[in-house]
Parts: sequence; structure tokens; C-alpha cells
Amino acid sequence: MPKSILFVCLGNICRSPLAEALAKQFANKQGLDLVIDSCGTGSWHVGEAPCSDSIRVAKEHGLDISHQRARQINQEDLLYFDLIIVLDEKNLHDLKMMGAQNVHKLGAYGYNNEDVPDPYFFPGYEGFDKVYNMIDTCVTNLMTDIR
Ligand code: 4NP
Repeated sequence: MPKSILFVCLGNICRSPLAEALAKQFANKQGLDLVIDSCGTGSWHVGEAPCSDSIRVAKEHGLDISHQRARQINQEDLLYFDLIIVLDEKNLHDLKMMGAQNVHKLGAYGYNNEDVPDPYFFPGYEGFDKVYNMIDTCVTNLMTDIR
């Protein structure tokens, strides 16, 4: 069983903060001793809180992600984390270019290996609702698998 999981998207302000929060919720409920974190491949939003639509959709499901702050992935992450879960194909490509080995797409855990679409460029509730549901299903399956 992995001891640490890192969720990676592009900006670390829309998708991976939700994955981090849902995985932490699962681990807490099941009493799993895991380090869980998220980050982005890009640096544009380093230090920022998650985007307002992600904060809102999380809140509607009883999760507070407003304290999270975006950070960019680094080489130490690749050594430290036992399992790296990316949100889409571009993230997968970027991580492999960095030399990551233990990397999988979140969509492999229940959505036929589909990308979790990037909602940043399609704001509005509907996109984020869909993204939340995809992430929720896949994170639950992932965490159940590794338990
Ligand atoms: P995320 O969404 O990868 O789900 O956090 C994005 C956030 C910001 C940008 C792209 C995607 N951006 O280009 O700034």
C-alpha cells in the first residue's frame, strides 16, 4: 500500500485541490495513515487559493478547500511520493518528461481512462459539477483499490 499520494493538474487551483480534499476525507473516514497532497505542473497560480467555483462546489458537498494554496511540482516530489495521480493526458505527458515513473491518470479509476476536463477555460457551475462528480467517483475507487 502506498504511503503518500500526490494529485497533479495544470494550475493546482481547480481540479487537483478537489482530488486532494476528497482523498483526505476518505483517508480520515477509513483511518488510513497517508500523506496526501496536490500541485500543478505550471507556476501561474503559485500561492493562490483554489478558484471560486471549486471552493463553491466543494462547499456544497461539505468540504472546505479554501485554506489550500497552489504550488508547482518539483523533482523532490517525484522521489518522495509513492503514487502520482494526474488529471489529464497533458499532465501525464509533462510528468513523464520530468522522469516520473509511478504515475497514473485519475480517469483510469472509473471513467475509462478519460481526462478530467480542465474547467478553468469553461467556468460556470455545470462544468465544475461534472468535474466534481468525476473526481469524487475516481478518488473513491482509487482509495478503495489501494486500501
Ligand atoms: P487546473 O485548472 O489545472 O484544474 O487547476 C487550470 C488553472 C489555471 C490554468 C489552467 C488550468 N491557467 O492556465 O492559468
